Order: sequence, then C-alpha cells, then structure tokens
Amino acid sequence: MTRHFLDLADLDGNTLAAILDDALVAKQARAGQPRGAVDEGAPLADHVLAMVFEKNSTRTRTSFDMAIRQLGGTSMVMDSGSMQLGRGETVADTARVLSRYVDAIMLRTDDHAKIVELAEYADVPVVNGLTDRSHPCQIMADMLTVLEHRSRLAGTKWAWLGDGNNVLTSIIEAGSLLKFSVAVGCPEALEPPADIVDAARDRGGEVSIHRSAEEAVADADVVVTDTWISMGQEGGEAKLAALEPYRVTPNLMGRAKPDALFLHCLPAHRGEEVSAEVIDGPQSVIWDEAENRLHAQKAILRWCFGQIG
Ligand code: CP
Ligand code: NVA
Repeated sequence: MTRHFLDLADLDGNTLAAILDDALVAKQARAGQPRGAVDEGAPLADHVLAMVFEKNSTRTRTSFDMAIRQLGGTSMVMDSGSMQLGRGETVADTARVLSRYVDAIMLRTDDHAKIVELAEYADVPVVNGLTDRSHPCQIMADMLTVLEHRSRLAGTKWAWLGDGNNVLTSIIEAGSLLKFSVAVGCPEALEPPADIVDAARDRGGEVSIHRSAEEAVADADVVVTDTWISMGQEGGEAKLAALEPYRVTPNLMGRAKPDALFLHCLPAHRGEEVSAEVIDGPQSVIWDEAENRLHAQKAILRWCFGQIG
C-alpha cells in the first residue's frame, strides 16, 4: 500500500517515534559534512520528489529540496499558479499525471480536502507540506528539537498561546500519540477545531483549553506560538485585539518551567505573537527547529518508501 504522510493521527505513536529516532541518528551521522553531500548509501537514489505550492514558503521549499538531495534523489518545485491546476485542472487528474512522472509529491495547499484527494488518486506517496488544517512535517521537526534538548517527549507539557490554527492541530495530534500534554491559551472564538480535540482525547491525549494565558503556560516544558494571521486568512483588527493577551512575553515565559524551551515554526512577527526578548532570547530554539525540518523530512520520506517502520 502506498504510504502517504498527510496527518500525524494517520500514524501510530511507535511509527512516529521510529521516524524521529531515524532522523536523530541520520542527523548525527552526517554532522560536519557539506550540506550537499549525499548520505551514506544514498537511501533514495534515483527518486524524484515533486513539490507543488499553492502558498508561499521558505523553509518547507528549501528543506524538502535539500532533504531529497541528501538522500540521493532530486526534486522539482512548481507553483500551482503556473500549472494547469491553477486554471482548473482537477486535483485527481493532476495526481494521476504526476504519478506517471515522479516518485513522490509534496503539496502545500489552502484546502485540506485537496491533499486528501491528491492522495486518493496518486499512486506515489503524498506528503502534507501544510494545509489550512494541519502542518505535520513542522511538528515532527518540533518534536525532534525537544528530543534533542530535553531527551524526552512523554510526560512533558506543551503550552500553545494564540490562534488555534493548523500548527496547533498537528501538535494536539502529536501529543495524543507521543504522550505529552497540550495546554492551549486562546480566545473562545479561536479555539482549535473541536473534532481534533475530541479525537485526541479519545486516543487518551491530555488537551486543556484555557482563557487565561497564565494558566495555560504554568509549569510548561515547551511554549509554542505562531503567527496570529495565517496565510490565506483575513487580517482583521478584531482578531489581533482578541489575541493581545496571548503574546508570549518574558513575563509569561517566567510562569513556565525555568528551563522551558520556546518554539515557533516561523515566519515570526516580533511584537505581535511573541516579544523579541523571547524569540531572540536564551530559551528560544527556533534555529534548531528550522534546521530540523530538513532532518525530520528526510526520515518522513524514507518512511514513505518503506525504509522505516
Ligand atoms: N514553517 C514553515 O512551514 O515555513 P515556510 O512557510 O517558510 O515553509
Ligand atoms: N499558521 C501558519 C504557518 C506558516 C508556516 C500559516 O498557515 O500561514
């Protein structure tokens, strides 16, 4: 069966842990080598990854491109606007055609239904490079970063402050599978999707929703936030005003554990969702987090091709 990487909840905790283990080992094994050097054994030699973007990207685009190169394969990057997809060719037909040319497809889309449809009609692995609903590759990198800095995920507390968006959805799914709790501080109107929270709780996940940012962040091991206005969303003064109390400030970080890590998927807006003192301060591990997109995605691609799990 073709292995797609659409959402973390499609996989079990053991599989996610195996992907993370592989990423850590492979990262250490190539430390110090030039970035373009191919990993020993060229695990995905001769494989081609097509990347399709309906939205902007810096990290996802670059890290997937480097990931497939380091695995011994090659990539092609396409903006949907320059494809027939951008003028109405169906996702299903695009899936069927790309499946005849390339070995895997990564899609960044404004509509989660499109990635589900792409996977339904593609004969090759499809990887979610962000949708309006989730961002699973990002959270694999986030977990890798926490593992590197804290050596464990199970039993940790992650506090999310801000908009209940696509990145949070994947954190909630991850927490329920790898046994860390997620405390969300957000306004009532910006809570994460109820079906995601319910499904995580049904899997035994510990998810709590708080109006008080102070309460959410109390004793957290990890504090995470993201932009208040995601790609494709309307700005809106009302939304920004509602989120003001959830800015990650030094004062709020002071309520988390003294050695709490700060994560942000980037791009960031200093002075909006996070104070510059926090994101540029000693508890912030955002550059490791950004680098780990590369290492996490190499392991995800290897899993897609049956080399892990
Ligand atoms: N974090 C992330 O996905 O960044 P890009 O939008 O730059 O890909
Ligand atoms: N929530 C953000 C993440 C960007 C990587 C967005 O969807 O724009």
